[in-house]
Amino acid sequence: MQLYLGDALELATQKIAAGTVDLVYTDPPYPKEFHYCYEWLAKEAVRVLKPNGFLIAYAGPYWKDVVMNYFNEYLQYFYDFILVHKGNTSILWPRKIISGYKSILCYHLKEQKPLPKTNVLGQWDGTGGDKRFHKWGQDVTTARYYIDCFSSEGDLVVDYFLGGGTTAEVCKRLNRNFVGFEKDAETFNIARARVDGTLPPAKYSQPVMELGANP
Ligand SMILES: C[S@@+](CC[C@H](N)C(=O)[O-])C[C@H]1O[C@@H](n2cnc3c(N)ncnc32)[C@H](O)[C@@H]1O
Repeated sequence: MQLYLGDALELATQKIAAGTVDLVYTDPPYPKEFHYCYEWLAKEAVRVLKPNGFLIAYAGPYWKDVVMNYFNEYLQYFYDFILVHKGNTSILWPRKIISGYKSILCYHLKEQKPLPKTNVLGQWDGTGGDKRFHKWGQDVTTARYYIDCFSSEGDLVVDYFLGGGTTAEVCKRLNRNFVGFEKDAETFNIARARVDGTLPPAKYSQPVMELGANP
């Protein structure tokens, strides 16, 4: 498990060799001022992914078109997994939308045809995230399911926008090799503590789904 404090956009080329990554699983900030992160992420995925690798990135519905435009330019669309925030809605005031989902966008390299390990649920009932470690934190149950479907033990998984370390914690529990970046020191220390076991592990909010199960 390699966690780095600093700007992923500056550190990535020093820390991750080209063509070595099985899965990028990440959750960049959604607001407009961070759109450059998604554009950079698309180009970075082209640099680091193995031929059969995947990029999986969370994206809010508000700017999903912008994110997909960046991704479509550099990568091949695979699927838009829908993460439903069960019983947890918020209002997108400028557009008067009562929203209760986000996307988990899945892409791979152009000219490649990789597949996940198993049949994958196109829609996942989540809780709306886990805000105990980060104000924008995702829940471990959702991350565990998709990371398990799209990578195997010993694979290299990367999260460029660690936040409170949800991806890192899941990768440790699933025996993935992992590289993560976070530019905010306080946030980084929380992710570090989760991986070191100084903070107690997050509980799965529902039974772990056996791969291949179709409920
Ligand atoms: C949406 S949050 C990630 C939340 C995470 N998925 C979790 O479950 O806790 C995005 C994070 O990316 C970090 N970030 C933004 N720009 C960054 C950059 N250029 N390099 C590294 N981290 C960055 C922010 O500080 C924030 O903690």
